[in-house]
Amino acid sequence: MSNQNLIIDDQQSGITKIGVIGSGTMGRGIAQVAATANCKVVVYDTNEEALKESERKLIKVLNRLIEKGKIDQVKRDQILNNIESSTSLDSLSESDLVIEAIIENLEIKRSVFQNLEKLVSKDCIIASNTSSLSIASLAASCEHSDRFIGIHFFNPAPLMKLVEIIPAIQTDQKTTEGATKIIKNWGKLTVLAKDTPGFIVNRVARSFYGESLRIYDEGIADFATLDWIMKEIGGFRMGPFELMDFIGNDINYTVTETVFKEFFYDGRFKPSFTQKRMAEAGLLGRKTSKGYYDYSEGATRPEPNMDKEKGSVIFNRILCMLINEAADSLYLGIASRDDIDTAMTTGVNYPKGLLKWADEIGITQCVKTLDDLFDLYHEERYRCSPILRQMKNSNTNFY
Ligand SMILES: NC(=O)c1ccc[n+]([C@@H]2O[C@H](COP(=O)([O-])OP(=O)(O)OC[C@H]3O[C@@H](n4cnc5c(N)ncnc54)[C@H](O)[C@@H]3O)[C@@H](O)[C@H]2O)c1
Repeated sequence: MSNQNLIIDDQQSGITKIGVIGSGTMGRGIAQVAATANCKVVVYDTNEEALKESERKLIKVLNRLIEKGKIDQVKRDQILNNIESSTSLDSLSESDLVIEAIIENLEIKRSVFQNLEKLVSKDCIIASNTSSLSIASLAASCEHSDRFIGIHFFNPAPLMKLVEIIPAIQTDQKTTEGATKIIKNWGKLTVLAKDTPGFIVNRVARSFYGESLRIYDEGIADFATLDWIMKEIGGFRMGPFELMDFIGNDINYTVTETVFKEFFYDGRFKPSFTQKRMAEAGLLGRKTSKGYYDYSEGATRPEPNMDKEKGSVIFNRILCMLINEAADSLYLGIASRDDIDTAMTTGVNYPKGLLKWADEIGITQCVKTLDDLFDLYHEERYRCSPILRQMKNSNTNFY
């Protein structure tokens, strides 16, 4: 039976059997999403304590949802009944779709997939929630690599609507269609991304942090001012430094470094020493009570310089860097125009799609800003995407 038939059969029986590997932050969230959508879920983890902790956390989350009036007791019990925990990989043998969410290590993931493939039916779709590894390299661990795909959820999975679907070069179209259908049935918004570093969101968003850090490193503005600019002038929910502190400077730095290395050290993605040192020093942000800001009790926040004129110049620089990456992603076929804009507005809550924003401020202005920066620095970081230059010359817009 093909994967396509399998999905149709699932719709008839109404039940999809989902396996989740790893009961950490992401595995727990994915299991909750699938169980809420009435799938039968088996969560497998090698660490029994992690499974117990995950169950405790899930119960807490569900109880909070009852308090908020989002679900009732019956639904809570139904969700919990839909989830089974196991320390045996064998328990995933009946799965229609298995989503792996374990430690971000290529060799460990590959060995798990090799063992898994011996147990599941040949129609089972095997997926990874990896943020940074190539889907092709993971798919290659499977004998039937055409059934393998990347399904990238955002944290927290139950709240974040976006899911990036990433077929590897080996992935069969039916696997992509089958996986997309299941994830959509869970109420998620899917976008299709090419198997390239950072997929859509983690690639395009790099400039939000990177260019802000660069401006800080050059002494043009401090953290508080940059955060004020992006929120007050740009309309972003959080400033880049607040957001890095929220994500964790260790995690955010690792993503930046991985994307940089994976892009064959393209200067556009070059990390910042400031961020590296913050991670090395253990100034990780909220989780250590200290990062760019001090989160200890009674600590005060530094005051931003609320100079709107200067702020607008800085905002335009960061925005054009973001637009350049979004435009280049379209140029290189990473995703469609609409998927790129959807990914950034729903995956990281940007106030507007970047390509739509480019049209609003004008393609000519984007090109001029980038060319002025390139003239000043002569760094690859500021090279303008060919698509923007072509559009400027032909006087066209994205929409
Ligand atoms: N945390 C995020 O914000 C986020 C977002 C998107 C994607 N991801 C990706 O999701 C994956 C998981 O991330 P996380 O933050 O949930 O990790 P986590 O550390 O919270 O959880 C990982 C779990 O996997 C278990 N595990 C480790 N090795 C295992 C093995 N060989 N077999 C079975 N279980 C094993 C651990 O016991 C742990 O419970 C990673 O690939 C990560 O890149 C994370």
